[in-house]
Parts: sequence; structure tokens; C-alpha cells
Amino acid sequence: MKNDMREILITEEEIQEKVKLLGREISNEYDGKFPLFVGVLKGALPFMADLIKQVDIHVEIDFMDVSSYGKGTVSSGEVKIVKDLNTKVEGRDVVIVEDIIDSGLTLSYLIELFKYRKAKSVKVVTLLDKPEGRKVDLVPDRAGFIVPDEFVVGYGLDFAERYRNLPYVGVLKPEIYEGE
Ligand code: PRP
Ligand code: MN
Ligand code: MG
Repeated sequence: MKNDMREILITEEEIQEKVKLLGREISNEYDGKFPLFVGVLKGALPFMADLIKQVDIHVEIDFMDVSSYGKGTVSSGEVKIVKDLNTKVEGRDVVIVEDIIDSGLTLSYLIELFKYRKAKSVKVVTLLDKPEGRKVDLVPDRAGFIVPDEFVVGYGLDFAERYRNLPYVGVLKPEIYEGE
């Protein structure tokens, strides 16, 4: 897989160091509380798994799977719930865990949904933020790294469902896309 990479943007060590820092910060922020971490499938899986191990307060975890229509071409902003939470959100301190924020459409939908369900608070932690991709105004409460407006893969991020299992984040060689 490494041969498919044009460039490694963020190494495994850099990611792990950042995840530790984010875990410490979140532990301090929610000290004495019992937040609900909501991982957004599938991309958030590696980040979620690593992050919770760096948090030293009690947390509950749950997952949502959503898909947005017209992604890449015409983004309608319409998001479909493929798998909903099993947990009641009312009165909870919700922390949405994402691998990347691009257009912001997925997250703005989820934030509104959890507010509608009467969450006590809703915050967002994302490993990667791509501000140049934004279609809606959305600033994450915590972001690990800012990435350029390029197609990045690894550590949960896929190209045609591949590369999610890389421990680092990088950019593919152009010939990898051309075959598809
Ligand atoms: C990707 C990524 C985020 C979302 C960000 O997920 O994991 O969830 O897109 O894009 P946005 O800010 O433009 O909404 P995707 O829908 O590709 O599903 P996946 O996580 O299963 O790969
Ligand atoms: Mn995703
Ligand atoms: Mg994807």
C-alpha cells in the first residue's frame, strides 16, 4: 500500500501524539461528567478507538452511520441515516467524533439532529479539518490537523473503501485514481 502513496502528510507518530493531547484536553473539559462519544462510521473508527484509550474519565460510546446524497458532484446537504444510535441523547453531553470535516454537511446535519433530540451539549472533535472544502459554516471545537484541499486517505479515510487501515494519512499517486 505504501507504494501507492505520493506523499505521507501525517505520520503514525504524529497522529498518536495528537490523539494523546486531544484525549487529555477532553478529559479535562468533561471531568466529572459522563459524555457520549458518537463515532461517525466508517471513517471515524480508528480515531475513535485510539481516542477513547487516551481519555481517563468515564465515557459512553455509540456509533452512527450516515450517507450524504450527491457527494462529490451536487451536494444537496441531504443526509440519510443508515444506522442510528442505540442511546438516548436527551440531556447528554455529546461529543461527535469524526475523521475529517470537508464540506461540513455531514456534521451540520448531525449537530442539528442531536440538538433536536435535546442533547445538553453538542461538540465536535475531528482528527482532520479541510477548511477549503466547506459548503456550510462549521468550525469544529477541536481539530487535530488542518489538511490541504487534496484527496487524503488512511487512518479511516478511504478511496473506494480501501486504505482505511493505514496507520498514517497521505495522498495517493494520481495513477491510482486513473484506473477506476
Ligand atoms: C467522509 C468522512 C466524513 C465526511 C466528511 O465520510 O469520513 O464523515 O465524509 O465530509 P463532509 O464534511 O463533506 O460531509 P463518507 O461519507 O465518505 O463515509 P465513510 O466514513 O464511510 O467513508
Ligand atoms: Mn465518514
Ligand atoms: Mg468515504
